[in-house]
Amino acid sequence: MSTWGDAINVSIFGESHGQAIGVVIAGLPAGEVISWPAVLSQMARRAPGQDPTATPRREADTPQLLAGSIPQGDDAFVTTGAPLAMAIHNTNTRSQDYGEKMTVPRPGHADYPAFVKHHGASDHRGGGHFSGRLTAPVVFAGAVCRQILARKDIAIAAHALQIGQAKDQPFPRCAIDAALMQDLSSRYFATIDPQAQNAMRQEIAVAHEQLDSIGGIIECACTGLPPGIAGEGIFGGIESALAPMIFAIPACKGLDFGAGFDVATLRGSQNNDAYFYDGDQVKSRTNHAGGSLGGISTGMPLLFRAAFKPTPSIAREQHSVDLQQHVDTTLNLRGRHDPCIIPRAIPVVEAMTAIAILNLLHVSNA
Ligand SMILES: Cc1cc2nc3c(=O)[nH]c(=O)nc-3n(C[C@H](O)[C@H](O)[C@H](O)COP(=O)(O)O)c2cc1C
Repeated sequence: MSTWGDAINVSIFGESHGQAIGVVIAGLPAGEVISWPAVLSQMARRAPGQDPTATPRREADTPQLLAGSIPQGDDAFVTTGAPLAMAIHNTNTRSQDYGEKMTVPRPGHADYPAFVKHHGASDHRGGGHFSGRLTAPVVFAGAVCRQILARKDIAIAAHALQIGQAKDQPFPRCAIDAALMQDLSSRYFATIDPQAQNAMRQEIAVAHEQLDSIGGIIECACTGLPPGIAGEGIFGGIESALAPMIFAIPACKGLDFGAGFDVATLRGSQNNDAYFYDGDQVKSRTNHAGGSLGGISTGMPLLFRAAFKPTPSIAREQHSVDLQQHVDTTLNLRGRHDPCIIPRAIPVVEAMTAIAILNLLHVSNA
């Protein structure tokens, strides 16, 4: 289903080259004042066409509110408690880059399995419902949720941790400065170390020059989450809530929390996070747990990493099959594509996290 959430429920609709894409968010509290400039600046971080690392395709991406809010001046709207519905009309599509029928599926994209599943009936133009464009409504929903979370002093930020061989420094594990969170979550293609971004741009440029694409890792932090949130039974943990949201982002292939897969090399004495009292707050000196034990928040920063594969659509000739003629063939792609998904996926990871965390708070009645 393209719908998710027990308390805050998001439904995403649309196709890349269809009339519109959008989202319906049900369960939002009434009376929340949402700033338009804050929403639009989040959406601008994901929009294509703004940087040499991204596809030159430009999208106006103007969100239009359809229901569930009342305007407050020109710069804000107030939630009414009814489902908040938003649509973005598709303006800059080039369907001529795609034939009427799916003939030659792109290796690495959803074309072939979607063709089989939907008996050839799905809209494959621009990737259809599987397009990265469907993450624009996600960022809208996240921008609404994160403003509600900010009133509870909960912040979410992400950065490019790695692209190819180029690496950024990771988040501090135990205390993350509010100014760093604010800075990262307002920038396009954020890294903690500016030098790392130059090295990453170089990796992307080389891949692009070679008619290729490149993958990477995004690291995300959520600060201000009080201890004791989530973990409603075995299936109600924080990791279980975030996993379907983060894996719903097209091209995400891996997710780990805290020390993640590195725990395999640790001893218990190294991995356990020793507690201490900081005033009357229980904190830990390390944070290998990544802010979650038993699926319940510990009060330490929630930390996770998401791995993204290289963009499937590349300009190099590739081997594929002709589904109409039933023969092997080669594919020379036209169309405009991101040589690396990471820069534009950063705000999407933050948005998915904001939706999941707000949902958890409501489920936990916090
Ligand atoms: C922000 C964003 C932009 C993307 N842009 C492209 C693109 O330009 N070309 C492409 O082939 N895939 C792009 N993708 C990835 C595909 O949508 C994705 O690989 C495809 O739907 C198959 O899903 P899977 O990789 O999760 O299996 C993008 C993904 C995201 C999150």
